[in-house]
Amino acid sequence: MRKKIIAANWKMHKNRSEAQDYVNAFLPLWHEIKAADTEVIICPPFTILHTLQTALQGSTVMTGAQDMYWEKHGAFTGEISAPMLTDCGCSHVIVGHSERRHLLGETDDHINLKIKAALAGSLIPILCVGETLEERQNDQAFQVVQEQLDHALFEVDLATRNLIVAYEPVWAIGTGVNAGSEDAQDMIAFIRGQLFRQFNQELADITPILYGGSVKAANMREFIVKKDIDGALVGSASLDPGEFAEIARAVKNV
Ligand code: PGA
Repeated sequence: MRKKIIAANWKMHKNRSEAQDYVNAFLPLWHEIKAADTEVIICPPFTILHTLQTALQGSTVMTGAQDMYWEKHGAFTGEISAPMLTDCGCSHVIVGHSERRHLLGETDDHINLKIKAALAGSLIPILCVGETLEERQNDQAFQVVQEQLDHALFEVDLATRNLIVAYEPVWAIGTGVNAGSEDAQDMIAFIRGQLFRQFNQELADITPILYGGSVKAANMREFIVKKDIDGALVGSASLDPGEFAEIARAVKNV
């Protein structure tokens, strides 16, 4: 059975004291939910990774980064490497988020290098893929996602089997308009098929694939009951500890 995962993407929000307040509010709720079959990962800005990691010590909640660079060290002003992230206690890293692809010029080649460096550096990549509204309207969604996966995972060694994929249609991110759960299921089943094509049946079967895009406590269940959907990557709704805890509750025992 695949594990269920809810991952929080805080984007460019929160400072150190806000992160501490968040943990103080979230942990008692999370302990009360006792969702032993669910993993929680919080991905804050780099500047508060250490604060968050320290505040979460002793809990089962893990931390991840929102991006990384593929070299280990060197003259790369402004960048952060995999060893720096593991040094802060990170276990995961988001790679290829659509805001980085579309607003910050990240290319498929960059994403491929980052995935390889994350795995080599003992981080579990959360690879984001998803089509724009125009691509969906032009019936190109499946082709676009297939190409993103082909590029991102080109010559990637997944012997460690440590990959998470997040399907995040660009038009559903931060808009309040989530994808229909049937459409999300169809695309996520398709992604599983691509993992089989690119790798093997075992990897297709064990890789957690999340849905992301305007997930909140009120719609989480619609997605998690679907056969191939293993959880969610949550932006805005993860900023509130009570709402994020309710998302965890919705995932429990499904
Ligand atoms: P959203 O963001 O939940 O605010 O739509 C999701 C994401 O960007 O990962």
